[in-house]
Amino acid sequence: MAQIFPKWTLKIPAIALIVVVFLGANAVGFIWYYGSPKYTDVGYRPTQPVPYSHKLHAGDLGIDCRYCHSGVERSAVAGVPPTQTCMGCHKLILPDSPKLAPIRKSFETGVPMEWVRIHKSPDFVYFNHSMHLRAGVGCETCHGNIAQMEVVTQNQPLNMAWCIDCHRSPDKYLRTQDKLTEMGWIPPENQAGIAAEIIHTKGLEPNDNCSTCHR
Ligand code: HEC
Ligand code: HEC
Ligand code: HEC
Ligand code: HEC
Ligand code: HEC
Repeated sequence: MAQIFPKWTLKIPAIALIVVVFLGANAVGFIWYYGSPKYTDVGYRPTQPVPYSHKLHAGDLGIDCRYCHSGVERSAVAGVPPTQTCMGCHKLILPDSPKLAPIRKSFETGVPMEWVRIHKSPDFVYFNHSMHLRAGVGCETCHGNIAQMEVVTQNQPLNMAWCIDCHRSPDKYLRTQDKLTEMGWIPPENQAGIAAEIIHTKGLEPNDNCSTCHR
C-alpha cells in the first residue's frame, strides 16, 4: 500500500487520486487536464469590507508591499496588515471618512477586520512565500501589477501546470533582491546572465517532484 500511495496522496480528493493511480506519477500532463479550477479563478475579485485601493497606497503613494505584508520574506504566508497599520496614518489622514468607518470600529473594539481571501491553494498543496522571495521571484510574477489595481484581482491561474512551468524553467522570472516588490518590471537585456548568476550563487534547484508541493 505504502508504495502505491505515498503519504501525501491521502490529502488529495478521491477522484483525483484515481487519476494519479491510473496514469502513474509521471503523467503530469494528463492530471493538468483534469485539474479543477475551483480554487484558481483568474479574475476573481471579491468586494472587500473597506474599499482599500492598492493603486492609491502602493501605486500613487508608493508604500512598499512589505510595509503591510510583513510576513512575506520570513514565512509561508504574506499576511494582511493589522488595523493598527492603517490607523498609523488614518488617525490623521481622513479621520472622518465614512469609507474608513469599519477600520475605526475595528481599532476601537480590537476586533480584526475580516478581509475576504482571494488567493487560496487547496489544503493538499504546500506553498511558501519566503522560499520564492529568497529565490528572487517578484510579487508581480504571481499576482500581476498590484500597484495598478483598485481592487485586487487574481491575475494568474495558480494551478499545478502554472507552478511546474516555472519550476522547470524559472530563468526569465528571477530578479535581484532589490527588485522583488517592483511593479512594471522589465527584464534587463542580460536577463539570462543575471538569472544564471542567481541560480548559481543561491544553488537553486526548483523541481517537479510531487513531494515538493504535496507533502
Ligand atoms: C497600506 C497597506 C498595504 C500595502 C502597502 C500593500 N497591501 Fe496588499 N493588501 C492590503 C490589504 C488591507 C489587503 C486585503 C484587502 C484587499 O484584498 O484589498 C491586501 C491584499 C493583497 C493581496 C490579496 C490577498 C488575498 O486575499 O489573496 C495581494 C496579492 C496583495 N495585497 C499584494 C500586494 C503587493 C504585491 C503590494 C505591493 C505592490 C501590496 N499588496 C501592498 C494592504 C496593503
Ligand atoms: C502611509 C500612510 C497610509 C497608510 C499606512 C494607509 N493609508 Fe489609506 N490613505 C492614505 C492617504 C494619503 C490617502 C488619500 C487621502 C486623500 O485622498 O486625501 C488614503 C486614502 C484611503 C481611503 C480612501 C478614503 C476616502 O474617503 O476616500 C481608504 C478607504 C483607505 N485609505 C484605507 C486604508 C486602509 C484599509 C489601510 C490599511 C490597510 C490604509 N488605508 C493605510 C494614507 C495611508
Ligand atoms: C511564486 C508565486 C508567488 C509570489 C512570488 C508571491 N506570491 Fe503571494 N501568493 C501566491 C500563492 C500561490 C498564494 C496562495 C497561497 C496559499 O493559499 O497557501 C498567495 C497568497 C498571497 C496572499 C494571501 C495569503 C497570505 O499568504 O497571506 C497575500 C497577501 C500575498 N500572496 C501577497 C504577496 C506579496 C506581497 C508578494 C511579494 C512580496 C507575493 N505575494 C509573492 C503566490 C505568490
Ligand atoms: C515564477 C516561478 C515560480 C512559480 C510560478 C512557482 N515557483 Fe515554487 N519555486 C520557484 C523557485 C525558483 C524556487 C526555489 C528553488 C530552490 O530553492 O532550490 C521554488 C521553490 C518552491 C518550493 C520549495 C522547494 C524546496 O525544495 O524546498 C515549493 C514548496 C514551491 N516552490 C511550491 C510552489 C507551488 C505550490 C507553486 C504554485 C502554486 C509554485 N511553487 C510556483 C519558482 C516558482
Ligand atoms: C510545483 C508544485 C507542484 C508539483 C511539483 C506537483 N503538483 Fe500537483 N498540484 C499543485 C497545485 C498548485 C495543485 C492545485 C491545482 C488546482 O487547484 O487546479 C495540484 C493538484 C494536484 C492534484 C489534484 C488535481 C485536482 O483535480 O484538484 C493531483 C492529483 C496532483 N496535483 C498530483 C501531482 C503529482 C502526481 C505530481 C508529481 C508528478 C504533482 N502533483 C506535482 C502543485 C504541484
